Amino acid sequence: MNLCMIGTGYVGLVSGVCFSDLGNNVICVDKDLEKIKKLKKGKIPIYEPGLEELVLKNHKNKRLNFSTDLHNSIKKSDIIFICVGTPTKRGGSSADLSQIYNVAQQISKSINKYKIVVTKSTVPVTTGDAIEKILTKNNLKKKFTVVSNPEFLREGEAIRDFTYPDRIVIGSNDKKSNKILKNLYSPLISKGAQYVHTSRRAAELIKYASNAFLATKITFINEIANLCEKIGVNVEDISIGMGLDKRIGGRFLRAGPAYGGSCFPKDTKAIINTADKYKTKLTVIKSVVKSNKNRSNILLKRVYKILNNKVKNKKICFLGVTFKANTDDMRDSSSLTMIPILSKKGAKIRYYDPTGYKKEFKGLKNVFYENTVKDAIERSDLVIIHTEWNDFKSINFKNFIKGKKFIIYDMRNIYDPSKIKKQGFKYFSVGR
Ligand code: UGA
Repeated sequence: MNLCMIGTGYVGLVSGVCFSDLGNNVICVDKDLEKIKKLKKGKIPIYEPGLEELVLKNHKNKRLNFSTDLHNSIKKSDIIFICVGTPTKRGGSSADLSQIYNVAQQISKSINKYKIVVTKSTVPVTTGDAIEKILTKNNLKKKFTVVSNPEFLREGEAIRDFTYPDRIVIGSNDKKSNKILKNLYSPLISKGAQYVHTSRRAAELIKYASNAFLATKITFINEIANLCEKIGVNVEDISIGMGLDKRIGGRFLRAGPAYGGSCFPKDTKAIINTADKYKTKLTVIKSVVKSNKNRSNILLKRVYKILNNKVKNKKICFLGVTFKANTDDMRDSSSLTMIPILSKKGAKIRYYDPTGYKKEFKGLKNVFYENTVKDAIERSDLVIIHTEWNDFKSINFKNFIKGKKFIIYDMRNIYDPSKIKKQGFKYFSVGR
């Protein structure tokens, strides 16, 4: 099929590339000329394992193209995927839909034959209705269908998540578009993905409800971890013991720092905002947002306690500063809360991240990037493992002792406490 992906961010680029790998002709469109030029040369704007190889392969075999020409790309395509960003509105909590509506206006002027217009961006319920209205203005004969097809891929695991999804959700109010989209996804359905057809509004809400639920699961186990620390129980035993119940499930029950990233923080706020509009109280999600906001303070208090409340001039090393491993994304990472506070309190911070220097810490007093794990760790008083990169999973800490032994605070529970303690290190982790 001929597909057009509008927006070459995470969702648009990854799904465009994967659709081309499944044999479709795909044009990825973006208004950012520099980005398109780079993509044509095989340079990837985001850090995503495996993506570069797939871009090169499919660009070479001419199934994958990049363009800034929205009008012609739409004309050539049967299905148009809207994959532009829906960030939180400045100073507010609702989703900023300006890019969605702008794209819809442009699509409305370029419809030359029947098109399926699909929102893959995360959009509040009823956005599909609004897009349909915009398209109808210039297309009274209605040669189009607006469909919602939320994406559930994770950064760092995006290709695997696209290729082997648990489910594919298609929200459309007609049979024709449903049949075409089911056919588009048939290679994934035949590999075991469940195909779920719902109304358009339901599909829009499934996405927000899913992200809000996952955020709730993480927050729940983080709070249980707080209790475990007080009563001397290992939170990992709790996660396993709970997770084996199929009604609960073991995934997303890893306690750690506050959840971050480009999705959970923004989507939990947006669903609350939608519910407020409909005069419905989402008290559970509201308390999740509140609890997560306070999570970094709880972890910082532990840092102060570990350092006997003497933070000034203490050398603290951060291993990993992104919101999780396998991404270069800093959006809503808990390090953005913790590092500035520690710097203000007079700590001397050195950090290492496999994805390199982060401009976000530029200008902060005594915060420096180091090029290797070794350089970041040596001569530290405290080593904080902030993300769970493989690079940090088998460090021989003994090799990095220069002078006094450092303390380790493993915020991702990577190491076995008894083994590390046997090596003579003071070791702290989360909920155990
Ligand atoms: C999330 C969802 O998992 C995807 O299904 C969804 O498609 C995506 O948002 C989106 O809406 O686009 P992502 O933000 O890439 O994906 O990252 P996750 O792997 O879900 O992690 C989010 C946060 O939760 C991270 O800070 C991570 O460290 C934290 N987390 C996750 C935990 O603290 N514990 C866990 O057990 C799992």
